[in-house]
Amino acid sequence: MSALTAHFDLPLDSSAPGWARSAVKAVLGGWGLRDQAWLDDATTVVSELVTNAVRHGGGAVVVDVEAYGRQVTLSVADGSSVVPRRREPDGTGGLGLRIIESLTTRWFVQSYEGGKRVRAELRPFPGDGVPASGTTRTEQA
Ligand SMILES: Nc1ncnc2c1ncn2[C@@H]1O[C@H](COP(=O)(O)OP(=O)(O)O)[C@@H](O)[C@H]1O
Ligand SMILES: [Mg+2]
Repeated sequence: MSALTAHFDLPLDSSAPGWARSAVKAVLGGWGLRDQAWLDDATTVVSELVTNAVRHGGGAVVVDVEAYGRQVTLSVADGSSVVPRRREPDGTGGLGLRIIESLTTRWFVQSYEGGKRVRAELRPFPGDGVPASGTTRTEQA
């Protein structure tokens, strides 16, 4: 089975989380992953990741969506090498990573020269998952 992937850049401003939510919902829905509660979790996770990338990271913010069967990973890259760390929630925030943790099976950071990518593995889709790419052919007359 091969993975389905989508990759997009976001504007580096306060509109980015909203764009990310819409794009992820459209991509996953287009792949047939249409469970509403599971999609809500996916959009919440990408929204928190992108909010952090814009607020704490900076540089280019890039989203990758990968689906392999029922397994979906959302990644958000930014131009800062600072690694996210959970902090005590207070009046100014501190809930983002806790929310991500509660809605995923795991999250982790991949560092590279010039930035990092935060990868979040969603709970498995509660249905059939995506078909293997390249296995469906449309016959031309
Ligand atoms: N993309 C990121 N780049 C650098 N630091 C980050 C990033 N995401 C999160 N962090 C750090 O982790 C902390 C916790 O993130 P979070 O739980 O989302 O809380 P908040 O964003 O409200 O501060 C942030 O305060 C920040 O210091
Ligand atoms: Mg945050």
